[in-house]
Amino acid sequence: MEQYKLKLKGQIIENYRIEEIIWDGGTSTIYKGIQEDLNSQKSVAIKVLKPYRNLKHQVEVFKREYKILKNLSHPDIIKVYKFGKIEQVYFMIMEYIDGNNLRTLLNKNLEISCFTILRILIRVGETIEYIHSRRIVHNDIKPENILISKNFLNLKLIDFGFAQKLRFFKRYNYTGGTDKYIAPERKKGISNFKSDIYSYGIMIEELLSNYEIFEEIYPIIHSVKSEEFEKRPPLKEIIKKLKELYENWNN
Ligand SMILES: Nc1ncnc2c1ncn2[C@@H]1O[C@H](COP(=O)(O)OP(=O)(O)OP(=O)(O)O)[C@@H](O)[C@H]1O
Ligand SMILES: [Mg+2]
Repeated sequence: MEQYKLKLKGQIIENYRIEEIIWDGGTSTIYKGIQEDLNSQKSVAIKVLKPYRNLKHQVEVFKREYKILKNLSHPDIIKVYKFGKIEQVYFMIMEYIDGNNLRTLLNKNLEISCFTILRILIRVGETIEYIHSRRIVHNDIKPENILISKNFLNLKLIDFGFAQKLRFFKRYNYTGGTDKYIAPERKKGISNFKSDIYSYGIMIEELLSNYEIFEEIYPIIHSVKSEEFEKRPPLKEIIKKLKELYENWNN
């Protein structure tokens, strides 16, 4: 894998010179690319698929991620520009965010204010509302998949690798994701919009548990974590509660 990384560094993909590795994950590597143009310094992120055993399946999933993202348009969802293949390497070009994922930020112990955390959670909730309105279930809502720019103004939901277009609910045979955030029904191979609400609830609990405000949100968290997905409250109810907390905090 080391050689594979070195091979791409310095190469040109679609007018972008591959600069540095931003992230080296399980299934993909994310590079920063800079446009080869004297008049502009445009940066992009290039997600490159790691070639593994079942490449055909992997490519299908990767293409699906691109297609889903291409059809979404929301300020808090990462934009994709292009999907392609150079020699044996499949890639996807996206807008670049100069920042960190939310997990990295939390690990840095920056003492982020409750005010900021609530703002982030509200924006994430509204973004999930938007994708659900487009019949998309994300299936991997977690702090690692939320990018925050250095100035804290931009927030982007990323990583639609497990996302699916659904009617109401769907049976499927994949149980991937991150254990802590996976709704119980997903482990049985069923996914629906409420599965994202579960993951979102776990995230709310995790992010707010260090603040006193947490007590007020506890009844909502409790219902979001329900094993029976029908019992989980609708997103708009959760967002409304978060907004109330935000207003109280603000005054
Ligand atoms: N457009 C981007 N701009 C800047 N950084 C990005 C961008 N996309 C992804 N990253 C960084 O790369 C990380 C991994 O991205 P992503 O979740 O899309 O890949 P992944 O295939 O799920 O990785 P893994 O296999 O580790 O789960 C993000 O958490 C973020 O830190
Ligand atoms: Mg990810």
